[in-house]
Formats: sequence, C-alpha cells, structure tokens
Amino acid sequence: MNLHSRKKTLPSIRDYYSATQLRADRWSALREAAEGLARHRKEGRKSEKLLKTAEHLFEVLAPIEQYWAFPGIHAFEHLRRLLQHGNADDLSVSIRRIARALTSGAYRRRSIPLSSEEIDNEDYEDEASLAPEARALGRPYFEVLIVDDVTESQERFLRQNLLRMRRVEDQFIYEPVIVPSLEDALIGILFNYNVQAVVVRPGLSLKSKIDLPILSQYLTRVSEEEAVDAIEPHEYGPEACRLIEKIRPELDAYLVTDRSAEDIAGLDLGRCRRVFYNQEDFQELHLNILRGVDRRYKSPFFTALKEYSKQPTGVFHAMPISRGKSISRSHWIQDMGAFYGSNIFLAETSATSGGLDSLLEPRGPIKEAQDMAARAFGAKHTFFATNGTSTCNKIVVQSVVRPGDIVLVDRDCHKSHHYGMVLAGASVAYMDSYPLHEHSMYGAVPLREIKHTLLQLKAAGKLDRVRMVLLTNCTFDGIVYNVRRVMEECLAIKKDLIFLWDEAWFAFARFDPTYRQRTAMGVANTLRGTLRSEETAEAWKAQQEALKDADEETWLNTRLVPPPDARVRVYATQSTHKTLTSLRQGSMIHVNDQDFKGEVEQAFHEAYMTHTSTSPNYQIIASLDVGRRQVELEGFEFVQKQIETAMSIRRAISDNPLLNKYFRVLTAGDMIPEAFRESGVEAYYDPDHGWADTWNMWSQDEFVLDPTRVTLAVGGTGWDGDTFKTKILMDKYGIQINKTSRNTVLFMTNIGTTRSSVAYLIEVLVEIANDLDDLLDDASKMERRSFENRVSALVEHVPPLPDFSRFHDAFRAGSDTPEGDIRTAFFLAYNEDNCDYIPTDDSLMERLEAGEELVSSSFIIPYPPGFPILVPGQVISPEILSFMRALDVSEIHGYRADLGLRVFTKEALKSVQK
Ligand SMILES: Cc1ncc(COP(=O)(O)O)c(C=O)c1O
Repeated sequence: MNLHSRKKTLPSIRDYYSATQLRADRWSALREAAEGLARHRKEGRKSEKLLKTAEHLFEVLAPIEQYWAFPGIHAFEHLRRLLQHGNADDLSVSIRRIARALTSGAYRRRSIPLSSEEIDNEDYEDEASLAPEARALGRPYFEVLIVDDVTESQERFLRQNLLRMRRVEDQFIYEPVIVPSLEDALIGILFNYNVQAVVVRPGLSLKSKIDLPILSQYLTRVSEEEAVDAIEPHEYGPEACRLIEKIRPELDAYLVTDRSAEDIAGLDLGRCRRVFYNQEDFQELHLNILRGVDRRYKSPFFTALKEYSKQPTGVFHAMPISRGKSISRSHWIQDMGAFYGSNIFLAETSATSGGLDSLLEPRGPIKEAQDMAARAFGAKHTFFATNGTSTCNKIVVQSVVRPGDIVLVDRDCHKSHHYGMVLAGASVAYMDSYPLHEHSMYGAVPLREIKHTLLQLKAAGKLDRVRMVLLTNCTFDGIVYNVRRVMEECLAIKKDLIFLWDEAWFAFARFDPTYRQRTAMGVANTLRGTLRSEETAEAWKAQQEALKDADEETWLNTRLVPPPDARVRVYATQSTHKTLTSLRQGSMIHVNDQDFKGEVEQAFHEAYMTHTSTSPNYQIIASLDVGRRQVELEGFEFVQKQIETAMSIRRAISDNPLLNKYFRVLTAGDMIPEAFRESGVEAYYDPDHGWADTWNMWSQDEFVLDPTRVTLAVGGTGWDGDTFKTKILMDKYGIQINKTSRNTVLFMTNIGTTRSSVAYLIEVLVEIANDLDDLLDDASKMERRSFENRVSALVEHVPPLPDFSRFHDAFRAGSDTPEGDIRTAFFLAYNEDNCDYIPTDDSLMERLEAGEELVSSSFIIPYPPGFPILVPGQVISPEILSFMRALDVSEIHGYRADLGLRVFTKEALKSVQK
C-alpha cells in the first residue's frame, strides 16, 4: 500500500497492533472529521462524506469506550447525539477537548469541561511537561472497574454513591467504570491501564456482548487456557477474582457476594483483598480501594530517606559530602553543588540509624522495601544489590554451588557467571547456543542440548553432583526461552535442580501477561501449583512406565513430565536499572526456592556479605524502592506502551521501500531456526499480512523473540555494525546504542522510549538511506564495485562462529562428560612460569591442524560479540583460531596482539593432570 492511499482511507483494524493505538488514532480521526464538519457548516458546504466518516468512527469507538472512564460512555453517547442533531460546532469543541486531554493525560489531573459554554484552559501544558514539583502535588488518578450487570438506574445509583464517598483528605482520586460480565472484566483489565482495582459484584454475567476482534483477541488468550465457558453461574464472582490475579497480579480485587462465608472460604480467589457481604457499604469499599492502592504506592526506604534528609544532624562520622558540607564550604567545587542540587547531599549519609536501615542486615525500611519488591516480582524473597547484576550473579552462584558441583551454563553468558564459577570452584559444563553465523551472533541453548548434557551426566553416574542450570533469559539480542518447558523437562531428569535465570534484561517482563509466562518467577509460581496436582502425578507415572527401557534419543524426543515431588528451586537476577526506573547499578535477586530456608539461607548470607559493599549507595536503594512502586502501579501501562513503540519501529522500517534497500529488521524467522518455532510465525509484522498473533507464539514456541529489542541488519550500507554505531549513529546523529555484531546494530526500547525518539530514529535512517542513494548515483564504476565488495564481505563472507571445544583433560575428571574445573585452570595461570605466548599466525594453525593440544590460560573475549571464545583450561581448536583471525574488531579482551595467545606450558598441564 503506498503512503498516499493510506492517507485517504481509514486504516483497517488489522493495521493496529493494539486496541490502545486504535483508540488513539480513531479519536484523532474523529477530531479531524468534527472540525471538518464545523468548517463546512460555516462555509455552507455539503459534508456527506465527512458525516459518514464521523458516524463510522462513533461506531468503532463505541465498544472501546465502554472500558474507559474518560470521557465515559454517557458523554460519548451525548456526542453521538450532537452529531445526529447536526450540532457540528459543539461537537467539534467537545471532541477537540477530549482528544487533547487523552493525548496529554490532562483528564487524570482535572475534570475536562466538554460543553462549549464552559471555558477550558486549553493552553494547559502537557502532563509530561509540568515541573515534577507541580505534578508531585497533584493527587494520582486511577480507575476502578466495577463488574455488575446493572440497569441504567442501578448504574447511576452505584456511581453516585461511590462519588459521594470522596473526601478532601483522600490521597488518590478515582473514577468508576462499570462493565456487565466476567469477560468484559478481563478485557477491561487487559485494555485499560488506568484500572488499579476491580470490584466484582454478585450480579455479573459471563459473556461479553462486545464483538470487536481487536478486543476479543484478549479473551482468546485467556480462554485458551481457562475453560471460561464452563464456569457455573455461582462461580462467576470467585472465578473473576482468580482470573484477574492470573492476568494482572498487581491489581486489587474486591468480591461482593451473597454467598455464605463458609462457602467462600475454600475457594481460590486469587489476590482478592476483601470479601464484602453488604452490597451497599460504599464507605468501606471506598476506604479499602484507597488503602489497597496506597499499599503499592508506599515506598518505605525512599520515604525514610526523605525524612532523614529533613532532620538537622551533626555529622561526626565518615562522608564529608553528607549534607553537602564539603561542597558548600568549598571555593573550587561549587559547580557540583549547583549541578546536583542540595537534596542528593542531604540524603547522603553513612548512618544506618535515624529511621534508616542497613542493607547488610536489614530490619527496617530496607527490609520492608525488599519484601514489597518480592510481592511485586512474584518472588518469595528479594534482595537489593547496589553493584549491578554482575554482583547478583556471583552472589547466587556462590550461595548455591559448592566446590566440585556440576553447573550447566550457556557458554555465551555474561562474564560475571564465568568469574562466579571460578570463585565457587564449580565443575562447569558449557553448553552451546545455536549460532546465527550470518549475523555473527548466538541464539540460545536448545532444550535438546540441555537434556543431552544432563542425560550424559546421568549415564556417567554423575547426576548427583549436578547442582544448577544457568541460562540467560532473555539474551542480549532478545531470544527468550520457554522457561516452563525447560524447567519441567530438566526436573524430570533431576528433580532437585536449581535454576538461575539471568534476567538482567528482563525485569520489565513481569508486567505484561504475555511476557510473564516466560519469566523465572512467573513459572516458579505456576510450577508450585501444577507439580502438586493430580494430573501431574498421573502423567508422570504413565510416562515413567513408557520410558522404562527407552534410549537417550527417546528421552530427547519426549516432552518430559516432572515428578510430583520435584522441588521448585528458582533464582532470578535482574538489572532493574537496565529496563526499569533505577539508578545505575540498581539490581535485584529474586528467590523462589522451596529449600531456601532449610539449605541455602546461611550460605546466601555469607555470599551476600562477600560481594556487597559495607557502604552501599542509599540513592540506588531508594531508586529501587521507587522503581518497584512504579511497576506495581503503572508497569503494565509502560510496558504496553514500550511494546507498541517497538512494534511501530518494526513496522515503519518494514513498510518503507527506501529503508528496505539498505536495512532490514531481523524477524523471529531470521533469529530463530524453524525447528524452534512451532507456531510457524516468522515475523511480528509483515506488510502483506499485518500483525501476527503474539500470544500464539509466546505460549508454544521453544524460543521467541522479544519484540522490544530491534536488531537491524546494516550490512547493506557497506558499514560494519561497529562503524555504523560510532561513526554514523553516534557521531553524526547523537543516537546511542551499545550492542552491535559484524553486520547488525541493536536498538533497545525501554519504558522511557518516546514516540518522538522513534520518529527521530526513522528520520535518521531515511536520511542515511537517501545519502547512500545519492552517493551511489554519483559513484564511478570502481566506487560502486568497492561498495558492493564491502557489502558482500559483511553479508556473505562472515566467519562461522566456533563451538565450545572442550576442557583439556588436565582439568577434567574423565572424558565421557564435558564438565571442567575452571578454578584450577584460572589460578594455574597466576604463575607466569606456567604460561607461554604463541603468535596467532599460520604456523599456529598448522600445529593445531596437526593435532597439537594447546590450552588457553585466559579468558579471550572479543567485543563484539562480547562472550569468551576461550576460557582458562579450554583447548584451542582450529575453528576458534580461524574465527579470531577473521574478526576485525578492535577490542579483544585478554589477548595481547604483540605477544599472541596466552597458553599453558606442557609442564604446567602435567602438574595438574588428574
Ligand atoms: C546477561 C547479562 N547479565 C548480567 C549483566 C551485568 O549486569 P550489570 O550491568 O547490572 O552488572 C549484563 C550486562 O550487560 C548482561 O548482559
């Protein structure tokens, strides 16, 4: 479809990724139509076409508006009547105000007068552009979804009674939205991000009467797993509460019922906060709703720090910067004070008393903040870290891995894990991720490979030593595991395995239901329920029977069922600062381990002490606390908007023929081999078919692609990823990114990415493509050929990524299984006499090809791709050497170009031979 034809006709529903986008676009189209009608009227022109457009827009908006409090379905119907009565002037004024308030968010702060007789301060600034102090003074706004199949007069009664409860001292302000059925409640909470509480009343019905595909897609998700149709009428209320928790666990649900207390007591009501038996007790309900939101709004450590900073104190301990004294008295560093302002120094202290707390031994507000974070992220315990996930990883590894324990690790994991393994003395079994040779990047470890490694260890009688499986989810490039399947099938082989999921890039995933099903904590909680079920017990028994004499291949090809007595032992580490609101280095460790108290807690404490500073940064801790508050109240909204933004980048590039000449957004089809995409879906968006069914992929495929991370293939520009990043994006256009591969760059969106930054990015790409067009238009034959050669070198002649070779026998206990003692190798290299350097020239290749065993004594980490191609104790293979030699990156950590590769001497290897 060309751009002109799109402008003239309204886009179809298929063109929208989400109902929120559809809603926003339809309101602005309605505004255009209403303004056109008013103009035509003034000019005395006919407006049949505009009238039709406006009527159509009312038609599509009508079902959508039932789920939002502003402007509200009654105001909406009033507008419709204005149209029917030909009152174009009033219609245009009201619609302009609504569309404006929806875009700016003004309706969250004040009531918007819709009648043209009332004056509206239209110059009111956008919410985002108000000073933070001004916004902090306002009362936060939210919406309460009331589920009840009421008549018009009952609805008025409900509404008026709730509004009558408002008091000046209320901390928040809310508006009710009333929907009739359980299905509408589910659509409502998935669609309306303003909803913070749901009141389920006894009169609710089951089915939604609304038939709009973009809304009912939400329902399909739920009903695929839950037999919604089979719910009995007397179960509607309790089931609604249970399903609400499943979809948006952060929300407060209130059940109003006429069933007896004993009846209700045995039911699963999700996180229902209160059950009311008196339908008309609006005051109790009102106070509970406010209290429920306040529970999430509280940020105990941030509040304590603010209070502390107001107290007059004399500082007679460390930290001259505390209260800004060393700055305010200075003649030379005043600019620091001016730049940061006074609060940050007033809040800097090394005190742990005065209302504050100690991170190393938390008992007060830090403990409370951590407990609230555990609630928000679905963990049983959460620990804050002020030195990033690098530290969190080392803490978890040290607390659960004992010297000699076998750990299965993805080889391209973050370097903190490798160092963690060295410190813990683990026997490391590295597993290879599937390679994406053409883009010089790795995917993730196929489940088959994980199972194969476990079964190999089992066959060698070493299963009892296998302690942990450690995987990165999602990977830097956005490959996401099927976490549930991995854990279930691994537990089927060893029932007490511990899992560490490195979710450095995935903290936000908890706040979207599609993503949540692939998070460590989400799945741990699901497993706690499913493992105990009778279905699991039966399925496991039957499978054991069937697999009695099965060979490895059969085990690999079977979807294994975990035994009912398997333990749920799951850890996740998250760089809160990477994807949510937190100062740099703010990270969290989430624990969901049934044996934590009995087996790990003491060791965890020691490990935490080993790696945590005794002077942790209070500002980082406070920001983690506030970051948690944010996600509990608006994580859903922000993540939803982030996904929409990322999807709009994907679409803008795919739809643009000029950009397609030089760039290509890599799709799931490019980054995940077909065998791992059971849904068969290739891309989130393609110009011919529109949007794919995201839920379908996410619920079944072995791997999915996180759409918020957009990998752009740039080989077609003739620049490699690194040059494109530094020389073009950064130096010329001030666009920052940090991950590149040989022929790709990665654009990561986050909850702060704005629509205008996306528009700028697209503008820049168009400009680059235009410049390239101009350059090639004027190029001589030679120049053109040189360009083509550069492109083909980047796109076609990419060195294949090498697999992990193996640990040298000196570091292995037997050669039938892959694990190696990385710690011994690491410390063996501390003695210079044990090491030698070999230039990476042709003669080295000849030696390797002739079968000589040379063993790396260091980590060799080229950047990009940023993971070790060699670790201490690893045999250097000809493939690894070829890859290294073909790499044209400037940074190879651990490698000295002037000396060559650092390897162990033969004598050194002999000295440790086991
Ligand atoms: C997968 C992974 N884990 C851990 C880390 C370390 O996180 P942090 O920067 O919070 O120390 C990173 C950093 O990029 C990472 O990519």
